[in-house]
Formats: sequence, structure tokens, C-alpha cells
Amino acid sequence: MTILVTGAAGFIGNTLCLALLKLGEHVIGVDSLNDYYDPMIKHARLERLARYERFRFAQVDLADAGALEKAVSPNEVTHIINMAAQAGVRYSLENPSAYMRSNLTGYLNLLEFARSAKNLKHMVYASSSSVYGDRADGPFSENDPVIKPVSLYSATKISGEMISQSYAHLYGIPLTGLRFFTVYGAWGRPDMAYWIFTEKIFKGESIDIYAAGEMSRDFTYIDDIIDVLTRIVDTPPKSKVPHLIYNLGNSKPTPLMDLVHVVEKACGQEAKKNFMEKQMGDVSKTFADISKAKAAFSYDPKTTINQGIPVFVDWYKEFYNI
Ligand SMILES: NC(=O)c1ccc[n+]([C@@H]2O[C@H](COP(=O)([O-])OP(=O)(O)OC[C@H]3O[C@@H](n4cnc5c(N)ncnc54)[C@H](O)[C@@H]3O)[C@@H](O)[C@H]2O)c1
Repeated sequence: MTILVTGAAGFIGNTLCLALLKLGEHVIGVDSLNDYYDPMIKHARLERLARYERFRFAQVDLADAGALEKAVSPNEVTHIINMAAQAGVRYSLENPSAYMRSNLTGYLNLLEFARSAKNLKHMVYASSSSVYGDRADGPFSENDPVIKPVSLYSATKISGEMISQSYAHLYGIPLTGLRFFTVYGAWGRPDMAYWIFTEKIFKGESIDIYAAGEMSRDFTYIDDIIDVLTRIVDTPPKSKVPHLIYNLGNSKPTPLMDLVHVVEKACGQEAKKNFMEKQMGDVSKTFADISKAKAAFSYDPKTTINQGIPVFVDWYKEFYNI
């Protein structure tokens, strides 16, 4: 396989590149290296891949039409994994155009690239649990309607799934969409709660707890995701229109305050807390039904936050020399 991974400097894309390289695959990574969060982290992640001769990297903004084709010949690619996106719910209130640019224009450009890739066997793309909107029930199933986004981020992710369906239908591009549920772990994302709590605790600053802590998330450990992703990549859908969507969560919603306590324990310090109102765009709960991915790929997430968060905190301390 020669696998094009977009978002190769991002949290999930980069960790996946490393796993694929360890498995002996050829990997071409692209990323715009934007400054949504500290690009130093993105450069440090890329350094992990640099020692592999089977890896090459190009700085590409997928939203620039033709930029990807200048860096990568479509015919050299057999598989594509799209992890590039403007992520984050809250930032979509501040900078909506970044979401339209990366998640819609950039994604369309990538699908056009896929359309011209004559040796392409499969394209996998990241969607999100946010497509389910703000629901109090659960677990959320892939069969549930996804028509009530409560943030622009969610709206672009639903749109990505719709655009994928049209390209699978029109051009027969084999596509698999993955709805990730709050993925966390070492080399993670600085805009996410577990990172912000850790950072603030070590700086002695107070942490903001939204919705007075009345929220829960289906936290999913990065290694559980990477394990199944390496199998999904080589398994194109066999359906008539070759497009399937899977939830990749943990199926165990965890109250936000439980996360706070686990982070405090791992940091060895109690946090000063500001209890705040629920933020616009936030959902109260995420809860994945993972039976479809279990049946198709023997997906079996095992890691609890009691195991995964201390690994993240240890990594964080080493990375920042704390
Ligand atoms: N981490 C999670 O909990 C989570 C949950 C649900 C969905 N997702 C989705 O999974 C995917 C990967 O997320 P992540 O956590 O690794 O995020 P990330 O922000 O760490 O990685 C995304 C990468 O894409 C790059 N990028 C953004 N726009 C680009 C463009 N136009 N062209 C090229 N590169 C571009 C960024 O520079 C970044 O390095 C995203 O689609 C995200 O929406 C993540």
C-alpha cells in the first residue's frame, strides 16, 4: 500500500502515520501546518516520522485547488486517509470560514484528487460524534438521523458525509467515514479539555468547567482507535454504493467531573475550579453504539480514562520538561 495521510502533523493523523510505518507501509503525509494550536507540536510530531525512509511529507493546504496534485501524483497512491480538518466546536463560533475552507473546500479538492487516482482502492475519512447533535438519550447509532447540528463544525462534518455519499454513488470511490468520539492520549490536542486541565493545573491556574460539570463524553483512547484504523484502511466497503459509516467511541459516557478527578490524580494536585454556563455549540452528552464497528472490524476499545489519562499526563510532563 502507498497511503496518503492528510493531517499528518495532527494528533490522530500523525499517530496513525507512525503505526502504518511500523507495519512497513509507504506513507505520504500532507498537512497545512496551520496555527490553530501551537505549530511547534505539529513539527515535533513530524520529527517522529522523519527517520522512516518510507515516509515523505509535503506542506499542502488542501483548500488551495491543485496544490495537492503539485506535491503528490494521484497515480502513486493506493489508499487515502483524510484526517485533515478544522477541528473544535468552540472555535467554529469565532472563525466559521476556517471550517468551510478546510472541511468543505479542502475535502472536495481531496475527493477530486481521489477521483483521478487510478490505483485507488479505498479512502477513509474522519467524521465526528458531533453529527448527532445535542441528545440526552443514547447510545447513538449510525442508523439515527443526523439532521440537527448544534454547531457549524457539526454541520461541516454532516456535509462531508453527504458529499462522500454523492462521490461514492457517482464515481464508485470506495469510502469509509469514521465518527470519532473524543479521542485523547499522548501527543494529543491542546484545545481539548483533558489537555487544558492538565496545563492549567501545572501552571497553578484555575480551570473552567462548563455546564457546571453536567456533561458527559465518550472518551476514546488513541491506541484503541489506531489499532482498528490499521485494519479499516485495507477493508473497502462491499456495499452497492461503496460508502459506509462507523462510530468509533468507547460506549461508556463519562461525567466531566470524573475526568477532572482523574486528571487531578494523575497530576498529583487538585485544580481550582470555575463553574461556568454551558457554552454555545456544546452538546450535553456523547455515547456511541459501537456494535457495527465491532462486527465489521472486531473493534474492541479497552482503555479506561483511569488508564489512559495518566499516560497522557506522563507524556505531557516529559514533553514540557515538568
Ligand atoms: N480528536 C478528536 O477527539 C476528534 C473527535 C471527532 C472528530 N475528529 C476528527 O478527526 C480528524 C483528526 O483530528 P485531530 O484530533 O487529529 O485534529 P488536529 O487538529 O490535531 O489535526 C488536523 C490536522 O489537519 C491540518 N489541516 C487543517 N486544515 C487543513 C487543510 N486545509 N489542508 C491541510 N491540512 C489541514 C491541521 O494543520 C492539523 O495538523 C479531524 O477531522 C477531526 O475533526 C477528532
